[in-house]
This record gives sequence, C-alpha cells and structure tokens, in this order.
Amino acid sequence: MDTQVGIVGAGPAGLLLAHLLGRAGIDCVVLEARSRDYVEQRVRAGVLEQGTVDVLTETGVGDRLQREGMVHHGIELRFGGEGHRIAMSELTGGRAITVYGQQEVVKDLIAARLDAGGPLEFEAGATEIDPSGGVVRYGDGGELRCAIVAGCDGFHGVARAAVPEAALTVYEREYPFAWLGILARAAPSSEELIYTHHERGFALHSMRSHEVTRNYLQVAPDEDVEAWPDERIWEELQTRMALADGSFTLDEGEIFEKGIAPMRSFVAEPMRHDRLFLAGDAAHIVPATGAKGLNLAVADVRVLARGLRAFFAHGDEAGLDAYSERCLRRVWRVQHFSWWMTQMLHRTGGDPFEAQLQRSQLDYVVRSRAAATSLAENYVGTELEDA
Ligand code: FAD
Ligand code: PHB
Repeated sequence: MDTQVGIVGAGPAGLLLAHLLGRAGIDCVVLEARSRDYVEQRVRAGVLEQGTVDVLTETGVGDRLQREGMVHHGIELRFGGEGHRIAMSELTGGRAITVYGQQEVVKDLIAARLDAGGPLEFEAGATEIDPSGGVVRYGDGGELRCAIVAGCDGFHGVARAAVPEAALTVYEREYPFAWLGILARAAPSSEELIYTHHERGFALHSMRSHEVTRNYLQVAPDEDVEAWPDERIWEELQTRMALADGSFTLDEGEIFEKGIAPMRSFVAEPMRHDRLFLAGDAAHIVPATGAKGLNLAVADVRVLARGLRAFFAHGDEAGLDAYSERCLRRVWRVQHFSWWMTQMLHRTGGDPFEAQLQRSQLDYVVRSRAAATSLAENYVGTELEDA
C-alpha cells in the first residue's frame, strides 16, 4: 500500500477530506490535475452554510474566515419592483450564512495541508482508476496504490467514469439558461444578497467584501461572453434590479472577472463502488440558485471522513457501508430546494400560465411565515442526521 486514502482532486471536497483525515492520523495523498495557482484563482461559489463554517472553524482552518467572512442573517427576494426580506436567522433559531469566496476556502485548506506536511501533488491528473484494486494512475506513468480511493475530481473528472455504467443510475436535468457572473470593484449596494425575478430574467446581487461585488444575470445557455461588454452588463443589471419607486441604484465599478456557467441538476447513484467513494461535484451537481454546491461537497466529506475514521481505527465498515445512502438523503433535499428556487426565480420562456404560478409562489413565500421558514431552513442548511 502506498497510502491509506488516495484523494483525486484538490477542490473543496478533496482538500477538506485530506484535512480531516490528517487530523485523525490517516495517511492520504492528494492528486490534482491543475496548478496551485489555477485552483486558488478559480472563481466559483460564495455562500457558506452554518454547518460548513462550523466544520472549518472547529478543525482549525477558520481563522481568516472568521475575520473576513461576512455573516448574513437574511436575504432579499425582489419582484414586481419591490423588495421583500426573508429573515433567515429569525426563522431558523439563529442560524446564518457567511459570504466568503470558495477560492479563499481552497487557499486556506491548501495552506493547512502544506503546513501539516501532507502530500499534495499539483499538475498530477489521474488518468485511470481501478475501483476494485484501489489503484490510481496519474500524470506521466505514476501509480498510487491505496486501500480507499476518494473521487473528488468534480463533474468532469475521471472518478465517476471509472464506475461501470451498469452500476450507476443517473438522474439529470438541464435548464434552458445559464448565468453570466462578474466580479467588480464596487461596494455592495445592499447589506444582504438580492435574488431578483424580472420579466427580462433572473438577476442576483452578491458580494465578496466591502470593496468587491459579485453579480449574476440569467442568459441563454449558449450565450457568448463576448456579446456582453461591461456597459451592457451594468445596464441589464440596473434594469432587472430596479425598484418601482426608483430608490435603488447598483454601484458600478471595474469588472475584473467575467464568465458563463451552465445550470444543471445531476445525481449519480450510488456514491460508492467497491473501494471508490465519490464526493462533491463528482457525484452531483445543483443549479447555483440555492448556493448549495460547495456546501453539499463539504457535507459528503464529513460523512466520508467519519466512516473512514471508524474503518481505519477498528475495521468497522458500517459507516462506509452507509455512506451513499446517508449522503443521498441530503443530496435529494438539496436537489429539490435548488430546483425549486431555480424554477421560481428564472424566466422560463414566456408561458403566461407559468409566469402567474411563479408570481403566486413568490407572493406566498414572502407573505406566509410557514413558506418563508421553509425557504430559510433550506437556505441556511438543514441538519439531517448525517451531520
Ligand atoms: P471541484 O471544485 O470541481 O474540484 C474538483 C477538482 O478536481 C478540481 O480542482 C479539478 O481541477 C480536479 N480534477 C479534475 N479532474 C481531475 C483528474 N483527472 N485528476 C486530478 N484532479 C482532477 N456553487 C455555488 O454554490 N454557488 C456558485 O455560485 C457556484 N458557481 C459555480 C461556477 C462554476 C463555473 C462551477 C463549475 C461551479 C460552481 N458552483 C457554485 C459549484 C461549486 O463551486 C461546486 O459545487 C464545488 O466546487 C464542488 O467542489 P468539489 O471539490 O466537489 O469539485
Ligand atoms: C455568489 O456569491 O457567488 C453566489 C451567491 C448566491 C448564489 C450563488 C452564488 O445563490
């Protein structure tokens, strides 16, 4: 055996798993296809659930997160030219979310891993995984033998493809739109995130700090980013986010990052095949409207780390045997929530009946305490028994 756990992929899932296993004295090797610089600069999610913040803080990688993360107790739903606050903390017994960029989490976990002296190989992409033999082939002829392989290599990785097709059931939905996302040097124009439903399409105002905002626009799935010069982006954001009384203007600034992300729901079941365990985006994808992808990856890894601790400490396989089922309960709750938020907030093609249903759902969510509570508890993160 070269190592106890071979971890493929140094995204949030692979890095957190390495961190949790390292603390438990379990040997692991992390193999990452890209360079350190690339993974540290890759801009993605920004909303951390309470449970995600807790695990990072309790395991000693939350110092910068505690200093720089922005704690939010509510979100705004904006439609019909009016804003409505969902008081998340009040509705969930004090739970909150923290805005802190995914690449900051990744930087903190990489630093912790390198400080602990654990092997973390960049530019060492896995090319082939043998789920029964526990072998990972990587780079130019490298071979890693392990008791367990953790496939944390994201949606386009090799881990899921290593499972025989007949052993996997795939559930999938593609949406007829994508998100154009920007980072801009501009102060946030609101203390909390604003999710906007507008007849021209969805828009989201988010942030990374007091100086940097993150904004998104619903666009066509095949949209060319070149068709969106900065002025067009600001004009469209201002139009979609305007309040009927004219009291809202989005602060504008230099756009220093621009990209288009597809919207997809995807689940591959089960999340284990022999010695190979899939975690995070390798096993499932959610549309970003619920801000759940990263949090779901963290939840998987907590369950997996617990199972691996029992397995390596006293050969107890019960946790590993229950891994897939335990994770999938949360995965499907989050799939439903993300789909629900997505279909409620986006423009879906001009069907007037559907548009009326969307408005009715939005009205209900902001008027009914029960409906608002349901949104809030899903948004801050439910504590299913796997926590
Ligand atoms: P990843 O972060 O994808 O990490 C997988 C890692 O494996 C990567 O570093 C990759 O380089 C590496 N890898 C791939 N193939 C191999 C290989 N063969 N060998 C070794 N390493 C390999 N979620 C939200 O909640 N909000 C958002 O706004 C949001 N925006 C997103 C935008 C984009 C463009 C994408 C792609 C995702 C977005 N997500 C968002 C989802 C969220 O970022 C993911 O759910 C999260 O990154 C999952 O973490 P992960 O570790 O499972 O996978
Ligand atoms: C982000 O800040 O990147 C973000 C926030 C909320 C979402 C998705 C992305 O639902």
